[in-house]
Amino acid sequence: MDTPADHAPPGTIDPRPHREAVVVLDYGSQYSRLIVRRIRECRVYAEVLPWDAPADRVRALAPRAIILSGGPSSVYEAGAPSLPAHVLDLGVPVLGICYGMQLLAHHLGGQVRPVERREFGHATVTIDEPGHPALAGLPATPVAWMSHGDQVVALPPGFRSIASTGTCPIAAMAGTAPGGHAPVIGLQFHPEVAHTPQGLDLIRNVVLGIAGCAPTWTAGSFIDDAITAIRAQVGPGRVLCGVSGGVDSSVAAALLHRAIGDQLTAVFVDNGLLRKDEARTVVASLREHLGVHLVAVDAGADFLAHLAGVTDPEAKRMVIGERFVRAFEREARAAAADGGPFEFLAQGTLYPDVIESATPETKAAAKIKTHHNVGGLPADLAFRLVEPLRYLFKDEVRAVGTALGLPDEIVWRDPFPGPGLAVRVLGEITEDRLAVLREADAIFVQEVKAAGLYRGLGQVFAVLTGARSTGVQGDYRTYGHVVALRAITTDDYMTADWARLPFDLLARVASRIANEVPQVNRVVYDVTSKPPATVEWE
Ligand code: XMP
Repeated sequence: MDTPADHAPPGTIDPRPHREAVVVLDYGSQYSRLIVRRIRECRVYAEVLPWDAPADRVRALAPRAIILSGGPSSVYEAGAPSLPAHVLDLGVPVLGICYGMQLLAHHLGGQVRPVERREFGHATVTIDEPGHPALAGLPATPVAWMSHGDQVVALPPGFRSIASTGTCPIAAMAGTAPGGHAPVIGLQFHPEVAHTPQGLDLIRNVVLGIAGCAPTWTAGSFIDDAITAIRAQVGPGRVLCGVSGGVDSSVAAALLHRAIGDQLTAVFVDNGLLRKDEARTVVASLREHLGVHLVAVDAGADFLAHLAGVTDPEAKRMVIGERFVRAFEREARAAAADGGPFEFLAQGTLYPDVIESATPETKAAAKIKTHHNVGGLPADLAFRLVEPLRYLFKDEVRAVGTALGLPDEIVWRDPFPGPGLAVRVLGEITEDRLAVLREADAIFVQEVKAAGLYRGLGQVFAVLTGARSTGVQGDYRTYGHVVALRAITTDDYMTADWARLPFDLLARVASRIANEVPQVNRVVYDVTSKPPATVEWE
């Protein structure tokens, strides 16, 4: 079930805080979402909108400041993205970063020119006006990250340069919006990236100091606001929520439960393809620990029966998607027959999905795998969507989960594919093969956790490769399974690197698996990054 892009679909509950917000207008920079993250680190709510978002959408957030991102264009190119009139009319502070600064200068009567050689890398900045509130507390010569082909060479009337570098005499500028008093600031360098060590201070100065926002946006305040918004919109209606055991759907269910109690019914379909003890943990945490009204259905036999003889990865995904819909539909109808129809369906959609589906390039990206989650639900189950996590990043969801009392085991669980172990048991899925993989996988994860490395990794898992190998176990020749271990580091799962796990850890895991899972006589470690491989083996 795809969530439409940049606009919440009609009927969607919008749990955004009615608190102070900063709007980041995106001019095509790969760093726009980083700007949002940095502002949120200052405990102020921020959201990214396309630069040409209609004025109403910007105004609806009642922004206390506007930040213009960088971008790949040049202000003097025909058709270059421009500065919408409402930005300066809002009367709030405006910060332009890189292209954003050039745009402000160009728009307000300054001049922008290409530099002789594109500047990319660290630069030492000289602060020329140490008393400027944007620069408060910064050292005299901070290091900053530059990446630009143009720069401001003449200031707009009434503006002054407040920082410079050897190659960029106007590295930061300050002035006020014409006809008003709202501060306008431009930075040629990027305060949002980690390569600018004082960047967060600068953003804090602008957001808290100049814009005067209060640092009140926390997991706790998010929960309070979300509860109010959910209650207001759901009213006395019933909400159905599918939970998979992953952090997103578990947090969504826990949050909804906090808001509307037994108006929420969570449905957990155990597809028989989960990891060792996973089903038990999920049910125990949500139902027993948090008191969520959870319908748990053990559909493992049905899934495995339909997977018999299916070996093609995409065919497996189709079967699993289809069986899931059937099981979910059955339970939804039974629960509706029991307590009345459901008006709402809750999903654990996160902000990166919302941002990404608004980007045309990602829409056009070639399909590598079909990623099923809830799959297409039947049309006659006509729901309105509730997406209480729609504006949160993953780490914020984890913070909310912890604040709601979910155990670390769920909050810090790494992402697990909807088709589960079916795409980690290569070839045919049988109970026996799943059992072998479950044991090997549990040993690997346990040892990585014991070594204190689990949280730093994107995903950690074992794969039953389907290959057989000759071994010698207890003086006997064996012909056993080959298990592969996969551990990755990644920022976004679009690309990934294989984790450089310590050899002694790998040795311990291999030895434990071969000893404790007698069907396995060989363990290998996957040293392929993505690309060319993918994260999962199927
Ligand atoms: P790949 O293997 O495509 O994985 O590099 C990237 C991320 O997506 C997860 N993944 C899936 N998630 N349904 C899902 O919900 C799927 O069919 C699926 N296949 C891969 C994978 O675990 C990784 O986090």
